[in-house]
Amino acid sequence: MSDRGLVLGGTGGLGAVAAAVLQSQGFSVWVTGRRPPRIPDFSDPVRSTPLLGNGPSLDQSPDQPVGEQMGAPTNPRKVGNPAGEQARELVGNPAGERAGGDQVPALSVKPLNWIPHEYRSPEHTLAAVEEALGSPLNVSYLVCNFGPFLEAPVSTMQGKDWRFLVEANLMLPGMLVSAVLPEMIQRGFGRIVLFGATGTDQVVGRRLTAGYQAAKTGLGVLAKSVALEAGHHNVTCNVVCPGYVETEYYTEAMKAKAKRRTPGGMLNIPQDFFSLFKLLLSADTTYINGAIISSAQGL
Ligand SMILES: NC(=O)c1ccc[n+]([C@@H]2O[C@H](COP(=O)([O-])OP(=O)(O)OC[C@H]3O[C@@H](n4cnc5c(N)ncnc54)[C@H](OP(=O)(O)O)[C@@H]3O)[C@@H](O)[C@H]2O)c1
Repeated sequence: MSDRGLVLGGTGGLGAVAAAVLQSQGFSVWVTGRRPPRIPDFSDPVRSTPLLGNGPSLDQSPDQPVGEQMGAPTNPRKVGNPAGEQARELVGNPAGERAGGDQVPALSVKPLNWIPHEYRSPEHTLAAVEEALGSPLNVSYLVCNFGPFLEAPVSTMQGKDWRFLVEANLMLPGMLVSAVLPEMIQRGFGRIVLFGATGTDQVVGRRLTAGYQAAKTGLGVLAKSVALEAGHHNVTCNVVCPGYVETEYYTEAMKAKAKRRTPGGMLNIPQDFFSLFKLLLSADTTYINGAIISSAQGL
């Protein structure tokens, strides 16, 4: 099995969390992006501690709601708990541990291999990663994080807008998956994670993001097709629809808009995804394949 992983758009945002997951396993990880990789801050206890910790212990009364059992408000982050210590105490979780007991990534693991890259076209990106990694890419883990969007009603969209959105959000992941699938099948192992958008676990209309939404919805077809074609070769491909995630790319205006749309105004943060990515990228996880996983809080 190759211990190499590639995260397209792995220098920041959610991609950096996926890169941190792979890195924490001791793998050799390549990340693309315009700027050098930024390691997510897993040290802030408020942000890195799971809201409800490791769940109720077995000796707690089953009649009580979980939050009450733990003496905690149902959502410590939502109530603006300023003290990290309190959040830690509420969930009974030592600092640096996440749900399921996952340790935060050690900072002394192999440094990420950065492929400096400015997106121009799917072909250009594939050529850049082939130049860095060789052809075949020889990766067991592929995460396609980069996924740009633009807002415009369908009636005003130009051909170049459609081309950009479909190429960057569907064709590029498709080409990368096609590039790695033969070697994964031959190796008898592969883990692929793609990124949908809010609501792309279903077919929905959008007033301003039809091109982005359509391309992202297509990724579900891609993942399910890979599961059909290669699942019996121990290759999984799943889509994560992350909801509104407060990344470094959010402007204040974007944050305010996202909060208005999110139940309770509580945005996801990148670190929330560490345990999900770890599950989907684990060699043990053969049973989740072709899934479209929404973490959009019901949206
Ligand atoms: N964040 C959300 O609220 C949200 C909601 C729904 C779906 N999603 C989806 O989730 C995925 C992750 O989103 P994200 O928030 O992490 O942001 P993103 O901008 O899609 O991805 C960030 C990564 O892509 C790189 N990147 C951005 N623009 C680039 C360009 N022009 N050329 C080359 N690389 C570029 C960044 O590198 P540098 O920063 O180093 O340039 C970084 O590594 C995306 O597919 C997105 O569509 C996100």
